[in-house]
Amino acid sequence: MSHQPGRHFLQIPGPTNTPLPVLAAIAKPTIDHRGPEFGRLGREVLDGIKTIFRTSQPVIIYPASGTGAWEAALVNTLSPGDKVLMFETGWFATLWSRMATKLGLQPEFLKGDWRSGVDAAAIEARLAEDKARAIKAVCVVHNETSTGVTSNIPAVRRAIDRANHPALLLVDTISSLGSIDYRHEEWGVDVTVGGSQKGLMLPPGLSFNAISEKALAASRTAKLPRSFWDWHEMLAANANGYFPYTPSTNLLQGLKVAIDMLHDEGLDNVFRRHDRAAEATRRAVRHWGFEIQCRNEHEYSSSLTAVRLPEGHSADALRAEILARCNMSLGNGLGPLADRVFRIGHLGDFHDLMVTGTLSGVEIGLKACGVPYRPGGVEAAMAYLAGNAGPVAQRAD
Ligand SMILES: Cc1ncc(COP(=O)(O)O)c(C=O)c1O
Repeated sequence: MSHQPGRHFLQIPGPTNTPLPVLAAIAKPTIDHRGPEFGRLGREVLDGIKTIFRTSQPVIIYPASGTGAWEAALVNTLSPGDKVLMFETGWFATLWSRMATKLGLQPEFLKGDWRSGVDAAAIEARLAEDKARAIKAVCVVHNETSTGVTSNIPAVRRAIDRANHPALLLVDTISSLGSIDYRHEEWGVDVTVGGSQKGLMLPPGLSFNAISEKALAASRTAKLPRSFWDWHEMLAANANGYFPYTPSTNLLQGLKVAIDMLHDEGLDNVFRRHDRAAEATRRAVRHWGFEIQCRNEHEYSSSLTAVRLPEGHSADALRAEILARCNMSLGNGLGPLADRVFRIGHLGDFHDLMVTGTLSGVEIGLKACGVPYRPGGVEAAMAYLAGNAGPVAQRAD
């Protein structure tokens, strides 16, 4: 049977479910990217996206996946051979550090356990030792999508300041932007990297660099080769709402609607909605008797939960069973977590019935696969959701 009835549940931690108004905007006819209509759209999205990063400084929008914006952040601010300090929170931090090596940088990768966030004290200690000020940037992942761990970015900022170190602070918010509170300007971040396909509720294909004055100044002397990623040509064209090359016109039409939807709900409500879905999910996971990959409660991610299956049970077999039976995709374990964990995405355009539907699908799969678990996780989640009213939509009466 090639057709599976019912709506597919896309519960991976991004790409996320794209809401209909965003899909409708993307489906509008493609427009002339050098015409006046595009100029207006360009100005609207370039201004609007700043409010999501919570910055008054420029945000660059690339027609690329998040990996492109990682590269842009590095090549615009650094020079060949520069040392960068990174922290091993998980798979995505590892990929970013590998990219730094490929680009001719010298990443120093502070060891992590893939179950906790960035250790700000370790960053501070390493920077304090760096008397020659050879480290040019500290690069960290805000929400590590492979483990479901959210790091404390203000603590990393304080660590850099306490060491009185001039390194730039580069932060990946690909799976937190629009889902978990994040403040580019207030937190003193120099480059924030974002992507379209998670909290912003768009399909993949757009990515972002929010930049500080200090990052902009660094980019004037940075010597890594760059052309497509160059901030300066972008900024010059962006001043009038245009781009130096053909932008993703239709995704930008969707972005405008997505930004409006986030503001219509209110960013703080959006974050609370994610916190609630995450807490309901964790209650179900604990009830089933499974371990959450994130070790520390204060670092739990509100956009996804990585769940460890008991020894001897395959997380990939469970995911395959759930896909076949329930038409639902869950995230796989990455790197050393392959087949050990599965990841439940609870981010983006998501409400209580989707939380409980997702958890029901997991419970069906657990039973079908013969994984030992304590039944009743969905009830535990429902009891929490029922007892903790989220933002209630305005009634029309
Ligand atoms: C935290 C994080 N960083 C970077 C990436 C890479 O982004 P992309 O796959 O859009 O290139 C991802 C993708 O899931 C991610 O979750």
